[in-house]
Amino acid sequence: MRFDILTVLPELLEGPFNHSILKRAQQKGLLEVHLHALREYATDKHRQVDDYSFGGAAGMVMKAEPIAACIEQLLAERPYDAIIYTSPDGQRLDQALCNRLSLQENILVLCGHYKGVDERIREKYITLEISIGDYVLSGGELAAAVLVDSVGRLIPGVLNDETSALFDSFQDDLLAPPVYTRPAEWRGMKVPEILLSGNDKLIEEWRHEQSLQRTKERRPDLYEKYKSAG
Ligand code: ADE
Repeated sequence: MRFDILTVLPELLEGPFNHSILKRAQQKGLLEVHLHALREYATDKHRQVDDYSFGGAAGMVMKAEPIAACIEQLLAERPYDAIIYTSPDGQRLDQALCNRLSLQENILVLCGHYKGVDERIREKYITLEISIGDYVLSGGELAAAVLVDSVGRLIPGVLNDETSALFDSFQDDLLAPPVYTRPAEWRGMKVPEILLSGNDKLIEEWRHEQSLQRTKERRPDLYEKYKSAG
């Protein structure tokens, strides 16, 4: 799977994908992440990527031309399954959307900045707008990083049995159960006996019960969804 990320701040995205699971995914050839600095597509002498907002609203707006030039160059090279714009007014990213996107081949992500992007870019190219939550970031780069991380780890073959996503929180609309590692007793606090029993069936039942309890307490909305899905 390939991500092309268009940004005015590529420096912000140089770190997050070069560690751990996403690094291995790239080494295995399962994931490619390409950063595109929008400034390089600006043709004026100051390489301007933003400009004043028509109508006098406060804040700068990302200009259409450099974005269009970059998107059109990429579209000439390959088709994209989704052209995503990261914005607080997009669809809220959740595990179901991550699962769906992880089956795609080519995804282009335009990171919003300043007061946003010229609306005509949204109309002409964007097929999906994604928000990572009801709060405002200073730019869409961190949202793009969240998107690539949460989708990239789900690409078939990226996770092994040990890190399997099957037991993640949200994968079945339930939060994950508590986990423990050595020592079995720490500062007088003991690991639940059942986890040391070696009885896989009982452990599985305990984990499921813990997931249910935790979801009911912390996320009654998810619990109701789980219950009604039967
Ligand atoms: N850009 C600014 N805030 C954002 C958010 N919450 N999600 C996605 N992109 C954003």
